[in-house]
Amino acid sequence: MALRSVLTGVGSYLPERILTNAELARRVDTSDEWIKERTGISERHIAADDERTSDLACAAALRALEAAGRGAGDIDLIVLATATPDLTFPATAARVQAELGVTKGAAFDVQAVCSGFIFALATADNFLARGQAQAALVIGAETFSRIVDWEDRGTCVLFGDGAGAVVLEARDDDAERGVISTFLRTDGRMHDLLYVDGGPSQTQSVGKLRMVGNAVFRQAVEHISGAMLEACARANVSLDDVDWFVPHQANQRILDGVARKLGIDVEQVISTVALHGNTSAASVPLALDVATRDGRIKKGDLVLMEALGGGLTWGAALVRM
Ligand code: UT7
Repeated sequence: MALRSVLTGVGSYLPERILTNAELARRVDTSDEWIKERTGISERHIAADDERTSDLACAAALRALEAAGRGAGDIDLIVLATATPDLTFPATAARVQAELGVTKGAAFDVQAVCSGFIFALATADNFLARGQAQAALVIGAETFSRIVDWEDRGTCVLFGDGAGAVVLEARDDDAERGVISTFLRTDGRMHDLLYVDGGPSQTQSVGKLRMVGNAVFRQAVEHISGAMLEACARANVSLDDVDWFVPHQANQRILDGVARKLGIDVEQVISTVALHGNTSAASVPLALDVATRDGRIKKGDLVLMEALGGGLTWGAALVRM
């Protein structure tokens, strides 16, 4: 029987400090009303000065391992999605590997910004399906508070910090559960709609996030809907078969727009954007963890995850939990 990557545990971590819209309104020319109406965001978490992306990633990974009933010794692959690594190199995944005490296999970062978790999941799934690893940690972890321009009201109100992780295990005895299909896409022609204006090769600096928000918004609804349909088509299932939709949490209006376009019941769409803001690669596993722990998503449910981010990148993953 073919190998399947079964999702056996999920976990997440949010930094303690909460930044409210009211606090932001004291820093830049904005208001709680504008932010809520245009984005659905009420508050976001911000990492402490001494908290790095790897710290957030480790905390989420430990919770995912616990949920899976696994330990560091079982893991032989770590794929970490982040656009805010601790350092330019080595990969943040290498530090996470050491911190967790994982001593087998490979650990590397994947960079697809807000689509990062979907790209990381698809990457790990391919390793497991080919028998190149037995148990993977797939992590999305970000500290966007470090690259946001706190004077740009068009972007600083949107983002938050956090991490989410899943344990994926290669199984050949459970035909039903596991990653069923993935769809990934990049169109580099739109790289300047959402980018960071610094980097080691071009500017020798870290840089700040820049976004043409309304242009990205227009791309989002179209490409996310397309990715969802494509992931379903590849698995020969219909949207009606899906129990839960776990989208990247960029803007409540995008979630609603996609649901409207595809005729999806909003009750089936997991939304955490109000309390988390946009946590980039962390947002999908964070939302998955919230809905798993509160009992909405159950073993056996069909879950469709999707995201769009800088690159532009976009994708979707269909998973039987
Ligand atoms: O996660 C990766 C993918 N990212 C996304 O999917 C984000 C996609 N984009 C969005 O979510 C939305 O475009 C935003 C939330 C970023 C902006 O909302 P919008 O409805 O597209 O607004 P806009 O950029 O067209 O700006 C409308 C107005 C402008 O003022 P004028 O020119 O009409 O006078 C902005 O200057 O809103 C103004 N504005 C603000 N006003 C108060 C922009 N940001 C703010 C703010 N507070 N924070």
